[in-house]
Amino acid sequence: MPDKPQDSLLIVDDNEPNRALLAVLLERAGYKAAIAKNGIEALEILRSNDIDLVLLDIMMPGMNGYEVLETMKNDPDLHHIPVVVTSAIGDMDSVVKCIELGAEDYLYKPINRVLLEARVGACLEKKHLMDKEIKQLEELNQMKDHFVRTVSHEMKNPLALIMGYVELLLEDEMVPEGEAREFIISIQRHTQQMGNLIRDLLDLSRIETGMSLDLEATKLAPLIETSIDNFKFLAEKKSITIDYTPPETEVVLTIDPSRVQQVLDNLLSNAIKYTPAKGTVGLSVEVAPERATIRVKDTGLGIPQEVLPRIFDRFYRVQRDDDDATEGTGLGLAIVKAVVDQHGGDIQVETVVGQGSTFNVTLPYRSPPSDENVSSTALPDKANSTR
Ligand SMILES: Nc1ncnc2c1ncn2[C@@H]1O[C@H](COP(=O)(O)OP(=O)(O)O)[C@@H](O)[C@H]1O
Ligand SMILES: [Mg+2]
Repeated sequence: MPDKPQDSLLIVDDNEPNRALLAVLLERAGYKAAIAKNGIEALEILRSNDIDLVLLDIMMPGMNGYEVLETMKNDPDLHHIPVVVTSAIGDMDSVVKCIELGAEDYLYKPINRVLLEARVGACLEKKHLMDKEIKQLEELNQMKDHFVRTVSHEMKNPLALIMGYVELLLEDEMVPEGEAREFIISIQRHTQQMGNLIRDLLDLSRIETGMSLDLEATKLAPLIETSIDNFKFLAEKKSITIDYTPPETEVVLTIDPSRVQQVLDNLLSNAIKYTPAKGTVGLSVEVAPERATIRVKDTGLGIPQEVLPRIFDRFYRVQRDDDDATEGTGLGLAIVKAVVDQHGGDIQVETVVGQGSTFNVTLPYRSPPSDENVSSTALPDKANSTR
């Protein structure tokens, strides 16, 4: 007998007598049975109902079983649902193909009642175990996020106090030039790094815990100009030219300005950080009917193709021999990606090692309304950045 609560199974078959027989057998075995006459209908039912297992016929007109299976396995919402294929007796090739495509098991027609119950029961048992494990992992992950958030938050205030006193010591010249002053300057630098890490961790956790965006009609150019102002000093220190081409027409986007500012700050600071002295960083905007693309181009180190997919991961930093001194948390691009996703935008990178990188951020003129976003938040304490 199936587990409680009752499991829902979907029978997919173009042949009416087959469907009817399977439905009776499954209902007698204690399951709920839903029915689809073809592949399209099957996917519709799967997307709008909680189905625990699919009994899938392979040969069907229109969308066949392979296509249903492939669609399911490529859909993150459906790929965990076990599929038992039903095939004509002896049709080994089809069965093998289905198993390769991710089917859990198979049954030959005409369906044998005992085998049906045994295989369905075993598949469901495996699925329930897996569901339980996934749930536990999700809970653990939530606990970890909560822990990181709490610790970061608790560290924020003492750190601000340390920073305040260090500044006081330096500004009021309470400590004269010499070794002690050097030590304090070093404390200041390291405290600043720790502050950046905490700020990034809190930002990311806010974005990921799903508070809403503060969307408003925002002119893009002033955001870019603010970013340039924020990092002009850093560029000048390395004799890097910032080459900004303002958009030809005024671009007004419905976005969360402080978040998008954060995206620009991160990309510009990276471009400057990972470009050797005397290089150039270009900023431009390309306008399309429904979207604007912000382009941040540098003549810097570039990113090896094999690690490119990882640069948006939390804490990931490219290992380089020559830039040991470059400070960073490895969280900047994770934040950038999360914010761009929240706005329904897209980010692309073109890069050649030794020549430079271009980060293209495309944002729709009108972002999806905040409450449609699964994860988003306002960042009241975040506008400037020293990344
Ligand atoms: N413009 C760029 N040029 C070269 N490498 C870059 C660039 N932007 C980011 N990277 C690489 O991607 C990594 C992740 O970036 P990010 O998340 O902003 O972290 P970080 O705090 O290290 O700057 C960086 O450590 C760097 O190795
Ligand atoms: Mg960075």
